[in-house]
Amino acid sequence: MAQRRALVTGGAGFIGSHLVDALVAGGWAVDVVDDLSSGSERNVAPGARLHKLDITDRPALEAAVQEAAPEAIFHLAAQASVTASVADPGRDCAVNVQGTLNVVDLAGRVGAPVAFTSTGGALYGDDAPMPTSEERIPAPLSPYGASKWAGEAYVNTWSLSTGVPHAVCRLGNVYGPRQSPHGEAGVVAIFSHRLHTGSAPVLYGHGAPTRDYVHVADVVRALMAASGRRGTFNVATGVQTDVSSVWAALRAAAGSELEPQLADLRPGELQHSCLDVSRAQRELGWRAEIPIEEGLRQTYAALVEGFGG
Ligand SMILES: NC(=O)c1ccc[n+]([C@@H]2O[C@H](COP(=O)([O-])OP(=O)(O)OC[C@H]3O[C@@H](n4cnc5c(N)ncnc54)[C@H](O)[C@@H]3O)[C@@H](O)[C@H]2O)c1
Repeated sequence: MAQRRALVTGGAGFIGSHLVDALVAGGWAVDVVDDLSSGSERNVAPGARLHKLDITDRPALEAAVQEAAPEAIFHLAAQASVTASVADPGRDCAVNVQGTLNVVDLAGRVGAPVAFTSTGGALYGDDAPMPTSEERIPAPLSPYGASKWAGEAYVNTWSLSTGVPHAVCRLGNVYGPRQSPHGEAGVVAIFSHRLHTGSAPVLYGHGAPTRDYVHVADVVRALMAASGRRGTFNVATGVQTDVSSVWAALRAAAGSELEPQLADLRPGELQHSCLDVSRAQRELGWRAEIPIEEGLRQTYAALVEGFGG
């Protein structure tokens, strides 16, 4: 049987690199498109081919898609920082809207379905009922939420107009090995790094904000299940956990007594977020399997190994 071919944009990043690992392990030939702006070549599985390019550069992306001739595209490349989107909404829009349009448009040329990673955490706004279903009309508080929503619109419109089934996965707060501790988001990685180096982290919102934390291995399975399906799916656990509890669990895993600093929420940040995951369970046969306590323990150990001495 001929080897199946996938193209993963953002495949040198945190979530994308785990997806590439799973595809390579499953026997796929994988091409990665990434400009390495936040990702790293070190994350890319040896069996995958890296095209270092910016998805806003349409001719370069077109050449890579043609060379890869993928049967499936996973579109994860993004300007993924809420605070960077507030500082420079124009660049956020260029990457997350124009870049996404480039990807779905070229996907149509090769007839490949796209699974697109949108956000559940930054889309629904503070007034949404918890857990929030996909039916809720988004009310994003940040340019990042707005650009992801606009990207979704292109994915869905191109799916309808071309007949190629594209899927939108609205991810909760993803955590796991390889997440960078150097961004402003990703509290599990940030807290783990602080615990490892013995410097107090800041708990924004005084530790009270809640998020729906989902392990990267569960997200990878969801993206593979969504590939080739049409629709919008929340990908999370349906469980709300406050930041103080995440800190406490990681502190216990580290055997530390470090005390955090407390501060107000930053602009564009939500107070609460929790996603209704029943549609993904029903239609994709997917559900998150890794409980947060176990996921945090395992992730702390893996991250600390990656930080080195
Ligand atoms: N981590 C989360 O909790 C979370 C939650 C919701 C949605 N998402 C989405 O999942 C996807 C992956 O996020 P991640 O956490 O792995 O982030 P990441 O920053 O580790 O990965 C993004 C990758 O995209 C690449 N990239 C950025 N701009 C690019 C461009 N213009 N052209 C080509 N490559 C570019 C980066 O170099 C990086 O490797 C993103 O679309 C993000 O918006 C993540």
